[in-house]
Amino acid sequence: MSIKTAVKDHFASAPISRHLKNHFDYLHGFSGMKLDYQDENLLMRKFTVQDEDNCAELFKEVFSAYPWYDNWVSLEQARTYLIELIENPVFDGYVAYNGLSLVAVCFGHKRSWWVGKEFFMDEFYVRNESQGNGIGTRMMDYIKKQLIEEEYTRLVLLTNKGIPAEEFYIKNGFYNNSDRTVMVTELEKGI
Ligand SMILES: CC(C)(COP(=O)(O)OP(=O)(O)OC[C@H]1O[C@@H](n2cnc3c(N)ncnc32)[C@H](O)[C@@H]1OP(=O)(O)O)[C@@H](O)C(=O)NCCC(=O)NCCS
Repeated sequence: MSIKTAVKDHFASAPISRHLKNHFDYLHGFSGMKLDYQDENLLMRKFTVQDEDNCAELFKEVFSAYPWYDNWVSLEQARTYLIELIENPVFDGYVAYNGLSLVAVCFGHKRSWWVGKEFFMDEFYVRNESQGNGIGTRMMDYIKKQLIEEEYTRLVLLTNKGIPAEEFYIKNGFYNNSDRTVMVTELEKGI
């Protein structure tokens, strides 16, 4: 049995097999993605289904801490949220590892906008203990390069005003689009 067949069989019998149909390309990535980037202590590459558990654990850890303090009540709840992003047919993701330790993640999706193909970044996070050491900046540079190669023309995201991440994005070439605002309405029973 070839390695590819063995890996495919393994994941077909695992709970994550539901991703295989849309994400067969990620499985191919497992055997060597041509866009991987490795320097002395960081491997940056596209997300594969094998990263799913690590990404969920790190997501819960990072967003439960300063400055977000989100109340993800269980790992399962965080996993469910991320799986919904991953199952989007236009999903794309990136991860960075320092040895065996996952240190940074980016999840996003394509939007075929009239001005060109844009990448909407849904989640971007760096391990708490590793923040402030330039990993986010290196990861952002890597992602921008990949997106340019894939002919994306714009990178868009939402974040909160006045938190350290806003400054990080500004330092990394993002600007605040003052023409846009975020509108929300709470949905309550009985209306
Ligand atoms: C925001 C984040 C992705 C930046 O990655 P990073 O690796 O910490 O950032 P870098 O080290 O490359 O850049 C540091 C710059 O980012 C800003 N910054 C943002 N968060 C920071 C943090 N926790 N620690 C230190 N600097 C931070 C500072 O302006 C800093 O500039 P300085 O070094 O001149 O002070 C990362 O801190 C993080 O994951 N934060 C928690 C999750 C989050 O807020 N994600 C964004 C959601 S939209």
